[in-house]
Amino acid sequence: MKALVLSGGSGTRLRPFTYSMPKQLMPIANRPVLEHVLENIRELGVSEVGIVVGDRATEIAAVLGDGSRFGLELTYIRQEKPLGLAHCVTIARDFLGEDDFVMYLGDNMLPDGVQEIAREFAARRPTAQVVVRRVADPRAFGVAEVAPDGRVTRLVEKPERPNSDLALTGVYFLTPLIHQAIDRITPSARGELEITDALQWLISYGATVLAREYTGYWKDTGCVEDVLDCNRELLGDLKGSVTGLVDAESELVGPVVVEAGARVVRSRIVGPAIVGAGSHVVDSQVGPYTSIGRDCRLLDAALEGSIMLDGASVSRVPALRGSLIGRAAAVTSADVGSAHGRLVVGDHTHVEVAA
Ligand code: TTP
Repeated sequence: MKALVLSGGSGTRLRPFTYSMPKQLMPIANRPVLEHVLENIRELGVSEVGIVVGDRATEIAAVLGDGSRFGLELTYIRQEKPLGLAHCVTIARDFLGEDDFVMYLGDNMLPDGVQEIAREFAARRPTAQVVVRRVADPRAFGVAEVAPDGRVTRLVEKPERPNSDLALTGVYFLTPLIHQAIDRITPSARGELEITDALQWLISYGATVLAREYTGYWKDTGCVEDVLDCNRELLGDLKGSVTGLVDAESELVGPVVVEAGARVVRSRIVGPAIVGAGSHVVDSQVGPYTSIGRDCRLLDAALEGSIMLDGASVSRVPALRGSLIGRAAAVTSADVGSAHGRLVVGDHTHVEVAA
């Protein structure tokens, strides 16, 4: 079996970050989403992985390289425009050949793994097998209607009145028949070749499409709230370790990682929390559930339930919570004595100030 990881797309829901980085490189517990995805794929025993990339191909390749770091062999496949999930399969045709493959959306996190579901696919080899998750409100998802024997009877995109609470996650196990189905579908109203249309085509022609339920934590890290939620979830399993410097006036409580070259001075850090390599935390309070990237500065500040991307700084800000602070972004308080704040805020940025 091969794997196809989709890492193109436009990432509009994660603006302004996606103006300067692909969303699949957003750090969760200080590691890009794509690294978590590739680890999940390696756990399936798959080694040949095709990565569909769009405009951000160079940055993704700079981080993942040839995949040897993950014990994988990566092939980059360029998609000129985000023309849909099924379009990604079309352009990967040469790479996929006649092999079965797992298609994995590069912004999806399923930290509990799908090994069991992969084993069942290999053993039963239905035409396709989708991974579904029960959700409270299925209206925002592709929804699978499933018979008692596990066969999918119908797939509906974002139904207004869902007949099922089983949402399609971003993982699909597929056999080469999917190529014939994709050849027979046309772009949807939003101009994309939809994988759900291809699967629906297979179902209509009597092919066996199975649904298997994943019961662990699942998140599509497509927007800020979901990134923060996922960070919180993954930090929940953090094991503390200190390779950087922590001075005698600082206190670390619970699982805290202080990476090499990081410094913690006169500060209190409540885990789970990570202080990335080269970052300085001085006279500050951090955590819980906070990830600080590389080379950040936190000075006389308090930060909780948040993520700072590489090179960001926060100084003289007494209480920030639930924040995602972009690369090299600076957050500071106004000059002493000033009655006004001052903002230099980029496009599609979201700012909440204390009233
Ligand atoms: P989406 O999150 O559905 O699409 P998007 O990246 O355009 O995001 P937004 O809705 O915020 O604009 O895509 C799911 C995954 O599939 C994501 O990792 C991007 C990838 N993808 C491609 O690689 N090519 C495509 O044509 C599309 C539509 C998505």
